[in-house]
Amino acid sequence: MGHDAFMDPFSSKAHFLLYEICILTIGSYGDVTVTVPNILILGTVGQPLLLPANYTTGTKDHNIQITWTFQSQSSGSMLLVTAVNNTLTPDMEHGHRFFLSPPSASLLINPVELRDDGEYTIKVTVSGMKLASASRQLIVQVNVPVSKPVVRSDPAWGAVEYVDNATLSCTVTRGTKVIYQWLKDGKPLLPSSRHIFSSDNKMLFISPVLKDDLSNYTCVAKNPISMNESEPIAPNIYYGPYDLMVKSEPRFKVSEGVFTAGKGEPVWFKCSANSNPPNVYSWFQKADNKTTPIQWGPVLNIKSEKVPDKADYMCCVYNNITGKRDETQFTFILSATVIKEELYHRSPAYYTQAHQVSEEREPPVDDYGIYEFVAVPEPTQFQQVRPEKLKTVYDIIREPNAHTTVYEVICHSPKTS
Ligand SMILES: *[C@@H]1O[C@H](CO)[C@@H](O)[C@H](O)[C@H]1NC(C)=O
Ligand SMILES: *[C@@H]1O[C@H](CO)[C@@H](O)[C@H](O)[C@H]1NC(C)=O
Ligand SMILES: *[C@@H]1O[C@H](CO)[C@@H](O)[C@H](O)[C@H]1NC(C)=O
Ligand SMILES: *[C@@H]1O[C@H](CO)[C@@H](O)[C@H](O)[C@H]1NC(C)=O
Ligand SMILES: *[C@@H]1O[C@H](CO)[C@@H](O)[C@H](O)[C@H]1NC(C)=O
Ligand SMILES: *[C@@H]1O[C@H](CO)[C@@H](O)[C@H](O)[C@H]1NC(C)=O
Ligand SMILES: *[C@@H]1O[C@H](CO)[C@@H](O)[C@H](O)[C@H]1NC(C)=O
Repeated sequence: MGHDAFMDPFSSKAHFLLYEICILTIGSYGDVTVTVPNILILGTVGQPLLLPANYTTGTKDHNIQITWTFQSQSSGSMLLVTAVNNTLTPDMEHGHRFFLSPPSASLLINPVELRDDGEYTIKVTVSGMKLASASRQLIVQVNVPVSKPVVRSDPAWGAVEYVDNATLSCTVTRGTKVIYQWLKDGKPLLPSSRHIFSSDNKMLFISPVLKDDLSNYTCVAKNPISMNESEPIAPNIYYGPYDLMVKSEPRFKVSEGVFTAGKGEPVWFKCSANSNPPNVYSWFQKADNKTTPIQWGPVLNIKSEKVPDKADYMCCVYNNITGKRDETQFTFILSATVIKEELYHRSPAYYTQAHQVSEEREPPVDDYGIYEFVAVPEPTQFQQVRPEKLKTVYDIIREPNAHTTVYEVICHSPKTS
């Protein structure tokens, strides 16, 4: 529908006229020939408009009469101006706006008005040896230039995706024979099952709206003499939450959904999800089968000396307009900072001892977790991974030969208080 409405209705009319007039005026009668360079003449209201025409006559013709007449559906046929032998006889009613300057046959309309729309005929008659005449016709279309279109989006407060419909309407305050076209992000918007245009193309219905409809729309209004474009408008569409995720500093991440940090290290987590309006964020801690709300807002700061050794945290997002929510969970495990500092200074005997201690589940409180972790691999295996290569506890965690993870360590580590 939008496509058809945008086809230029003027060119087809002009083609038809061209054809008609060619047939009509190929012949000249006697010694007179009248020519007009353009059959369709476009005028702008308030501006001067020239209707060019030429004629040739035989040398022996003495009296030459040029006559312009006008014909329209509303006003019928009327004489505008006539000249005999360069002497002008303006029509008393129309003469003040129609000018002929013989010997030129061109007609000047100044200023042109909307009611000047119609068919004009120039007729040239000569009398000398014999009487002869010829005439041509032209079509004049007068238009008012289009003002800048204004687009309104309804409902103005916004539309909820998958639920609401939206209507964009385009209006111009000035302009005649205006046709409309819609652009989405600068590209022509085609009709689809969700995008329907009114028959005059002034309105675009989107039913239902989706997040994908969140774009800049512009309305282009044009007529045969002008074109004007609206400011882009982006309808307010409520959507989401989508793409929920939690981020922290990469060094804290052990694997998907598992983070670890040393005791005493400040750790932050940032929860994000795409939504309009912005989500309401809330954080929960899940430990010992208990879920405790801990904080509002997108960022969670953990004081790692105050949290359980292992806990699950949950970020919940809620879009209070779409009414949709989402949540994601991750595990945060506390590793003792001393691991990093002291690991390399210890002798293999230490690890063996540590293994034993951990099995007895009586590690000194300060060092819990360390012993158990480093003791998980057999001492011989550990020899392969231990040398200078290992810099921090994280290298051990990521070291495939170590056959263990911090997760396991902490699961078995004793509780501190
Ligand atoms: C009329 O004819 C003259 C001379 O042939 C030419 O210069 C002029 O452009 C023509 N005007 C129109 C309106 O055809
Ligand atoms: C028009 O002009 C021609 C020659 O220029 C002259 O012979 C003729 O008489 C004139 N006709 C009128 C009506 O003045
Ligand atoms: C668009 O319309 C405004 C007035 O509404 C006018 O000032 C401006 O010149 C027009 N632009 C074009 C390209 O016609
Ligand atoms: C959206 O338009 C459809 C028809 O296109 C209609 O059935 C539905 O009720 C409209 N929804 C709302 C919320 O107005
Ligand atoms: C609309 O265009 C403006 C300016 O180019 C841009 O900043 C904005 O993000 C666009 N809005 C949408 C929804 O594409
Ligand atoms: C909905 O959430 C937004 C963004 O968080 C907030 O500004 C607004 O006040 C909330 N509205 C209601 C009705 O709760
Ligand atoms: C947590 O709940 C599960 C099943 O609901 C139960 O098997 C487990 O013993 C509980 N753990 C604690 C520490 O309460």
